[in-house]
Amino acid sequence: MLSNLLKRGFRTKNVTAKHESGLKKCLSALDLTLLGVGAIIGTGIFVLTGIAAANQAGPAVVLSFIISGTACAFAALAYAELAASVGGCGSAYGYSYVAFGEIVAWIIGWILLLEYSVSVAAVANGWSGYFNNALTAIGLGLPDALTKSPELGGIINLPATGIILLLMAMLIKGAKQSAQLNTAMVFIKLLAIIIFVSVAAFNVNPSNWHPFMPYGWFSTLPDGKTVGVLAGASLVFFAYVGFDAVSTAVEESKNPQRDVPIGIIASLSFCTLIYILVAGLLTGVVPYNTLGVDHPVAFALQSIGYSWASALVSTGVIAGLTTVMLVLYYGLTRIILAMSRDGLMTPYLSHVSPKTQTPVRVIVIMGLIMATAAGLVPLGALAELVNIGTLAAFVLVCLGVIVLRAKHPDLPRPFKNPFSPFFPALGMLSCGALMAFLPQQTWTRFLLWLGLGLVIYFAYSIKHSKLNKS
Ligand code: ALA
Repeated sequence: MLSNLLKRGFRTKNVTAKHESGLKKCLSALDLTLLGVGAIIGTGIFVLTGIAAANQAGPAVVLSFIISGTACAFAALAYAELAASVGGCGSAYGYSYVAFGEIVAWIIGWILLLEYSVSVAAVANGWSGYFNNALTAIGLGLPDALTKSPELGGIINLPATGIILLLMAMLIKGAKQSAQLNTAMVFIKLLAIIIFVSVAAFNVNPSNWHPFMPYGWFSTLPDGKTVGVLAGASLVFFAYVGFDAVSTAVEESKNPQRDVPIGIIASLSFCTLIYILVAGLLTGVVPYNTLGVDHPVAFALQSIGYSWASALVSTGVIAGLTTVMLVLYYGLTRIILAMSRDGLMTPYLSHVSPKTQTPVRVIVIMGLIMATAAGLVPLGALAELVNIGTLAAFVLVCLGVIVLRAKHPDLPRPFKNPFSPFFPALGMLSCGALMAFLPQQTWTRFLLWLGLGLVIYFAYSIKHSKLNKS
């Protein structure tokens, strides 16, 4: 009985199995890079940088970004190799199915659902804050009852719910239309960053960079909170979440084996440079201990007397956060599609509408769930939950490169990791270390989510897996 369960749980998918998805192949390397930039630059740089600088790292938050970015670079190389050689829109879920077996794939898929859906709902909350701020500036601000969840004294966070429903309509229309909207908003968000950098660069006061590392490398406070550059790195890791979403677009890209690695590596490298620049300037313009607010970038500009720049940057942030939600929502639906096609989730979800060539059912169901959650739950603390899940997926993707090189040495690899297995091993080590710096409470929540996933796997997925038939 147990050996049979184990055998079924660790069955693997054929590495060369490819299928027709019905999805439209329409995305180029540039589309994919912009998709990556769309998903990456968001709450992390516009909000968390200030919080990490004020409470955890001081001006050395720049080092936190470099450390986190390095861990992501190793993971990105691993993603690029697997996306080019294994393919499939299931991202880390699909690679684990081939490398480790069904149960590990299920767990990773389950973790990715958490990563993507909680990110969308959390970013919607941040978006709502900036949006209502902008409305207030022109005298149209909404009352608290309509901008706060019940736990915070309101009825519903209406803008947060509304933006997700709007994105739902967008995604139903099609990947190309969504990519076009994404491209336009990515440029607005980059413009906001250019304005910030141009103004801030001429207003740096080097004395703000002293003391550079007020909280040291790492320590735990009596109340359980963690501080220091490394704790900051675990938090600002959220800023990099999303480059992996490029790998969910494999089935819709025109030349995936070439373009997906380009999209992943180009978007991550570009964003890392921007983050280092913005974090350095932000802490150079105002004292780090004033940055613990929910709109630090706009706040810094305001503090040095540039209200016009602050307003422009806020507008850019609204566009920027929209693209993050759009791409992560898109990635979420493609992962569910892959899991459902494999039989691990109900086949009802894998229907692709012949008219729009998009998975309409998944888009609507997940849209309604996330819109409800974003309207009713304050999701602030859950950013760390997103980080732990994403880091766990990164560790397994790096391990996947090593395992697949051993299991299938002859598999065509249009993109190869340099210095394998050294680089993937460094990726596992650095992502694992960032997980270790996260608070205890985050670990508990994460393990509960995993437990729930295992119950569903043994109650449903193991019996309905397509591999049962082959
Ligand atoms: N990286 C994305 C952000 O910072 C999730 O908002």
